[in-house]
Amino acid sequence: AVKILIHPDAERAADCVAELIAARLRTEPATNLGLATGGTMEAVYARLIAAYRGGQVSFAGATSFNLDEYVGLPPDHPCSYWRYMREHLFDHVDLTDTHLPHGDAADAEVEAARYEAAIVAAGDIGLQLLGLGANGHIGFNEPTSSLSSLTRIKTLTRSTREANARYFERFEDVPRHAITMGIGTIMRADEVVLLAYGAGKVDAVAAMIEGPVSAACPASVLQMHRKVTVVIDEAAAKGL
Ligand code: GLP
Repeated sequence: AVKILIHPDAERAADCVAELIAARLRTEPATNLGLATGGTMEAVYARLIAAYRGGQVSFAGATSFNLDEYVGLPPDHPCSYWRYMREHLFDHVDLTDTHLPHGDAADAEVEAARYEAAIVAAGDIGLQLLGLGANGHIGFNEPTSSLSSLTRIKTLTRSTREANARYFERFEDVPRHAITMGIGTIMRADEVVLLAYGAGKVDAVAAMIEGPVSAACPASVLQMHRKVTVVIDEAAAKGL
């Protein structure tokens, strides 16, 4: 079932998502968190850091697995998701058991399989946090991704590379491939919380919630998940 929460603005939507995560950690400190990157999540992580500093939440018992990483970027690369996570969360809270795919692995396919196996060995994801690509992608599962896919290498679309080019010096520097959890991997999560805000996500939000379940909008498969909370602002809800 999909629960949809529409907030007046992005700030309130981020408050809501941070509180959902904190609430899960309070009731289940050993939660395996599935984490996401992107501009959308920066406000969520800032709130979680504030809650940690205020003594309202601890990550000490938790584990985390991130959704994805660019192929070719080592963990210390300024544009890697490893670096994003350290800057926006890991360096500021008591979460120590953290995992992301290694973008600089000698064999990215072997690394993808290793990462999938590590998620399974950890008992799968308890709470999966998701953003939403303007084209409906989740993680880096671009349109036409198999709805039962596992962690693997995906070729990024030009529109996704353009959307993420703001983090790189030049468009040509944006990697062409990523290692991403599959849609099947994400669907095994016990609970999913998806956050999207702003006018740029209107079409993707409408396709995800009201469109047919289709690989043309990978996020639409969440309609078939047993426990999803979609948190959006009014600007992103305009197409509903
Ligand atoms: C990126 C990430 C996704 C993210 C999405 C939206 O490419 N791989 O995990 O949810 O695109 O990004 P943003 O939050 O910056 O709009």
